[in-house]
Amino acid sequence: MESSMSVDSILNKWNNEADSLISILLDIQSEYNYLPKEALITVAEILNIPLIQVYSAATFYKVFSLKPRGKHIINVCIGTACHVRGGERIVDEVKKKLGIDVGETTRDKLFTLETVRCLGCCALGPVVLIDNTYYSHVTQKMVGAILNEYKKGENK
Ligand code: FES
Repeated sequence: MESSMSVDSILNKWNNEADSLISILLDIQSEYNYLPKEALITVAEILNIPLIQVYSAATFYKVFSLKPRGKHIINVCIGTACHVRGGERIVDEVKKKLGIDVGETTRDKLFTLETVRCLGCCALGPVVLIDNTYYSHVTQKMVGAILNEYKKGENK
């Protein structure tokens, strides 16, 4: 983690109150896209609560991640229906375009690639979900253009 400034200011924003632990963790997660270990240690120290308490909150809620995550989470469906329509080829194309494997995050922390077994809209397969946006009938050709939309969004 480059600086603890941000964590300090988040703690300040919540008046260093242990009652605001979840809100503090949510703010840290939105700042870093995950909960860095150093941040959790700082939170425990400043709030004067046991580190285990901070970790239990951080692991209890699915919204939190203890591993570095990208700003955008790409979920490629490899459930049966998407698989038969070429879901794996989409996974390969995303891997190739981003230079990462499933479960990894790009160096610029823009994307994390994950796979999922059925997103519940099988007729639209292959389906890719990026954050809250669904892409249907995705082809290998479409992958580059879709990813570029997110990269462009960064330069605005
Ligand atoms: S298998 Fe992909 S949405 Fe169901």
